[in-house]
Amino acid sequence: MAEHELPTGFRYLPAYLDRPAQEALVEEVRAVVAAAPLYVPQMPKTGRPMSVRMTNCGSLGWVTDREGGYRYQETHPLTGQPWPAIPAALLRIWEEVYGYPKPPQACLVNFYDGEAKMGLHQDRDERDFEAPVVSVSLGDQCLFRIGGTVRGAQTRSFRLSSGDVVVLGGESRLSFHGVDRIFPGTSTLLRNGGRINLTLRRVDP
Ligand code: SIN
Ligand code: FE2
Repeated sequence: MAEHELPTGFRYLPAYLDRPAQEALVEEVRAVVAAAPLYVPQMPKTGRPMSVRMTNCGSLGWVTDREGGYRYQETHPLTGQPWPAIPAALLRIWEEVYGYPKPPQACLVNFYDGEAKMGLHQDRDERDFEAPVVSVSLGDQCLFRIGGTVRGAQTRSFRLSSGDVVVLGGESRLSFHGVDRIFPGTSTLLRNGGRINLTLRRVDP
């Protein structure tokens, strides 16, 4: 990999979803959040709250708290209920963009208010790195940063808009990535503003 290039397999698909598809997906996310409320995740060990609020849908959900650290589990940490199903529209996107032979098991729902951000990290709590990570953006724009598979490699930034899809597949599956900031007021999709990111993952081989 040349120094100015990102790992292969990274795909940025701007405007993948048109406005009606985004609106339909927001309704699906509202139903997910009604069944599995957003909560404030905590960093492992320190218990420090993350600025992003989270929930999940799928047979597994990604959670983190002081005692248990990063992990996948079958139930919501506050309600103890199984996560709601992944909406069909998201399963379709997963199939269309990569064609991985097995469906995603987890869909992490991240909600960013105007102040929220997410530090550079790798998605590596899965037991299968063959499957891609597929993420869908809804609502306000953000500054998304992606780099190499080692910390400190050069990064590039993309301004992600509502309806954009990002795929971390192949070599880029373990790329460091994060969200530097949200641009409040850049979308009319969500009545009260903010950004939703939906991240589809396969956990088991
Ligand atoms: C994540 O890495 O979990 C979220 C990325 C994003 O919000 O675009
Ligand atoms: Fe991530």
